[in-house]
Amino acid sequence: MATKKILIVPGDGIGQEVTSEGKKVLDKIASKYGHTFNYDEALIGHAAIEKTGNPLPDETLTKMRASDAVLFGAVGHPKYDNDPTAKVRPEQGLLKMRKELGLYANLRPIKLFDELLEASSIKPEILRGADILFFRELTGDIYFGEKGRKNNGDTAYDNAEYSRFEVERIARKAFDSARTRRKKVCSVDKANVLETSRLWREVVQKVAAGYPDVEVEHQFVDAAAMMLIKDPRRFDVVVTANLFGDILTDEASQIAGSMGMLASASIGDGTGVYEPIHGSAHDITGKGVANPLASILSAALLLDISFGMKKESDAVINAVDKVLKEGYRTKDIADARTASDNVLNTSAMGETVLKFI
Ligand code: IPM
Ligand code: MN
Repeated sequence: MATKKILIVPGDGIGQEVTSEGKKVLDKIASKYGHTFNYDEALIGHAAIEKTGNPLPDETLTKMRASDAVLFGAVGHPKYDNDPTAKVRPEQGLLKMRKELGLYANLRPIKLFDELLEASSIKPEILRGADILFFRELTGDIYFGEKGRKNNGDTAYDNAEYSRFEVERIARKAFDSARTRRKKVCSVDKANVLETSRLWREVVQKVAAGYPDVEVEHQFVDAAAMMLIKDPRRFDVVVTANLFGDILTDEASQIAGSMGMLASASIGDGTGVYEPIHGSAHDITGKGVANPLASILSAALLLDISFGMKKESDAVINAVDKVLKEGYRTKDIADARTASDNVLNTSAMGETVLKFI
């Protein structure tokens, strides 16, 4: 029996809708297993800009630091997507949070629930049994290097930088994790072109030497992007830089059937942040059709990684599995065989998961 402080940071768009389902699930776990979870809420992204002018108010950061874990929704607003001149942007809040909290490791498990084999656009016989864990480096690379304009604004640049210690710490996390899985690490880079990738490969090779029981391979990102779709089962743990990881995990979400199914954990020096990999999805915001399973599975990761509550976490994952086995779907993962009564809205899906916990 534990007492924990959880900060709910819904952010923008469908963030609010899906995060409240994730929170319901945490509540259910607390009451079932006798834990006390105390909640607070904070602003980020467009929601924070509207209220304070700042995409990551200090108050939010302070609350994050004082919490045992953060359940996060999404940030973004279409208003900025076609306004490249906007100086203040919702995403700045997310990036600053990652940097300030030292969240250098972003874990994105790509696990296909058997029942969703048909929901993917990839052939079932290619997919069956696919189970990949991505370690995306989250506080370096082209995301955080110097950026700007020169030549009167006619030339723009974004610097990609990596230091040895940054590569080493994420590589260690990946190798440690591989030891608990199928003992394979694929490091993805572009060492045939990029200097940062050459440093990356050099450091990963050194780290690998300390894990003789783990098989390591290096792939170029273009080849890895192809191989993910051609033969996803060949991958176990994948470790890669910030930008490559961003792109490859959206691609890999199709292995799991839908972006709406994928959870992530951002961990590092302090409080861990748990969030769906999908974005704010303003096209479906407020319609009640968003899939809350990514947020619910993020809550499961939170229980496991930040609280060490493995059986509670498994209870959530098993409940999601049962819900899918019983044929319940949200719109994004429904197919021709789904009975229309079984196509649930966001909160009904959350309630159904609760029933199976
Ligand atoms: C993600 C998102 C973010 C990223 C955006 C919103 C800045 O796409 O978490 O994958 O690029 O990291
Ligand atoms: Mn992304």
